Amino acid sequence: MPIRFTTLFLRFPYNYCPRTMSDSQLQLDVSKLPRHIAIIMDGNGRWARERGEDRVFGHYEGVLSVRAIVDECGVLGIKYLTLYAFSAENWNRPIDEVNALMELLVNTIRKEVEDLKKNNVKLHVIGDFDSLPPLARQEMGEAMELTAGNTGLNLILALSYSSRHEIVRAATKLCAMVKANQLQPDAITEDHFKQCLYTAPFPDPELLIRTSGESRISNFLLYQLAYSELYFTPVHWPDFRKKHLHEALMAYQKRERRFGKTSEQIQNER
Ligand code: IPE
Ligand code: IPE
Ligand code: MG
Repeated sequence: MPIRFTTLFLRFPYNYCPRTMSDSQLQLDVSKLPRHIAIIMDGNGRWARERGEDRVFGHYEGVLSVRAIVDECGVLGIKYLTLYAFSAENWNRPIDEVNALMELLVNTIRKEVEDLKKNNVKLHVIGDFDSLPPLARQEMGEAMELTAGNTGLNLILALSYSSRHEIVRAATKLCAMVKANQLQPDAITEDHFKQCLYTAPFPDPELLIRTSGESRISNFLLYQLAYSELYFTPVHWPDFRKKHLHEALMAYQKRERRFGKTSEQIQNER
């Protein structure tokens, strides 16, 4: 992989010194980074259990990884980062764990919001916002408002999120538009559908990362991942740091994205 110092100098903030870059960062081709990375942050519970600790300890440690990955995405100039933080199915976990997760969410946002603001990060939420506890809704709402003017990384938290629910909700919205005579059924396009998803303002992720060894999607962005590159790593989320992100990005950069075409066609288009 070529080392493109010129591009690095151009893309990174003026006060960012490439001499402090790690080896893995230097191996990245910054002209071929994804615009949007989505991550299924899995393995907090197992990480804690392996250390003889309560599962919740793994969730606390996982916040440090979130911090590290958000920072690094900002440095790399990634435009969108979607983090699967709590699925609609996760409500079925033991009540103590659910309560601890909601409390952690509130405390983390409260603690981090000033830094998000300072670091030009714009916060978004996708999922069933109304099902969150009132304090979580309030804290997230305020943080989204405070960061609304930011223009750097878009940090999208999937909370109480179910992709199937999102798809059914989109179908319901389209039906309502048809019923109101705003749209004819045979005029519905993929674009209309996309506009009805939670993710309407964002491009589809080019790269999906799942930590902790499971090779499944677990009801995450089923529609949006149609052509994403999937990257599975055995590393548990609390251990996942900047170096692991670089490994995922290097693997991504080695892939040939063909979108149904032949390899020869792709080569000729270059
Ligand atoms: C991911 O880690 C965090 C959430 C789902 C909230 P897990 O809690 O699923 O950890 P494992 O998969 O049980 O190890
Ligand atoms: C997916 O992880 C949800 C999040 C990471 C928030 P889970 O641990 O809940 O997924 P399954 O149950 O193993 O598929
Ligand atoms: Mg899990």
